[in-house]
Amino acid sequence: MNSDFDKVFDRRNTNSLKWDKYKGRDVLPLWVADMDFQAPPPVLKALHRRVDHGIFGYCLPGDELVGVVVARLQAKYRWQVEPSWIVWLPGLVPALNVACRAFGNDWDEVLTFAPVYPPFLSAPELSRKKLKPIPLRREKGLFTFDIERFESEISSRSKLLLLCNPHNPVGRRYSRREIETVAQVAVKHNIIICSDEIHCDLVLDGTEHVPVATLGKEISANTITLMSASKTFNLPGLNCAFAIIPNERLRRTFIKNRREVIPSTNALGYVASLAAYRDCEDWRTELIDYLRGNRDIVQEFINEEIPRLSMDNVQATYLAWIDARELGVPDPALFFERAGVGLSDGRHFQAEGFVRLNFGCPRATLSEALDRMKRAVADQGPCMK
Ligand SMILES: Cc1ncc(COP(=O)(O)O)c(C=O)c1O
Repeated sequence: MNSDFDKVFDRRNTNSLKWDKYKGRDVLPLWVADMDFQAPPPVLKALHRRVDHGIFGYCLPGDELVGVVVARLQAKYRWQVEPSWIVWLPGLVPALNVACRAFGNDWDEVLTFAPVYPPFLSAPELSRKKLKPIPLRREKGLFTFDIERFESEISSRSKLLLLCNPHNPVGRRYSRREIETVAQVAVKHNIIICSDEIHCDLVLDGTEHVPVATLGKEISANTITLMSASKTFNLPGLNCAFAIIPNERLRRTFIKNRREVIPSTNALGYVASLAAYRDCEDWRTELIDYLRGNRDIVQEFINEEIPRLSMDNVQATYLAWIDARELGVPDPALFFERAGVGLSDGRHFQAEGFVRLNFGCPRATLSEALDRMKRAVADQGPCMK
């Protein structure tokens, strides 16, 4: 498809959440997780065609989109999904909240592995559930599950596990073995798994994502899987996502709790998702190559060129999780913002002293941001690397 990911688009004055945060200031925004690339050409073409029709009534996903999703899951993961298992949604954050609402009684426990994407931490309390964050532990330079701690924190009131795989912000694509171990503990204790797999098509290291629900009948019957084309094909503003819920009882409960609270899915979101999944695999391959290049640049620069900062290998996502604790500043996100780079604050993910950098942008933007970060740290004092 020969996409030009180097092309810099001006996103100012487009009401972009990412860019308007720093309106009127010279701050490069590398925070919220959308990319500064245009959506793939077949998506733009399909949207133009749909807009030209000019009627935007309530919409259904349509048989073709459902068929494409089912075929894709079969081809990628040998996962045989029945069309009736798919529940369409306007986003994954609403789905996390519906799951917390739907399962368990007031102040039952929802577990999750932290640091994690902030809505995982806020959803339980919004539905009168108790959040139990289990810290990830580091092993051989990567974050992983602390299974002993996980099992020891489980009580008779633990009803739901919110899992993030690939994991935002730590960039892990968990192995089959890691996922299986977590899932087996959850099943053993009758804990429903809600697995957010929104980053599943953004694996950068040539390995394969393993959906937790493919690990056997018992796990599948206990799992709600959340997916969307939005991250991979840069469509998050079009609000289209889906849950896969093989267990009819769980599905009914989920749907009941969604009804009349969550709006229906966006008409243009369906159109874009169909074109993305059906026609844009080449574009996705090119995107992965480009993101892998960006990942390598960020990783090398942070670990080799900027003293007092470090990061792990990003196996998946376009998010770098940077340990800035050695900088010794009270608020690293603010420190870099003053230097002209807008990063996500680790405290929102339950990790003080960390920042998250979104490298889903043209290389010129990324290089400028990294240079600004390097200068800010150099101005701080003597270099140690
Ligand atoms: C793990 C994860 N889940 C959900 C979302 C947001 O999903 P949505 O825009 O569909 O609500 C994000 C966005 O960054 C994410 O990283």
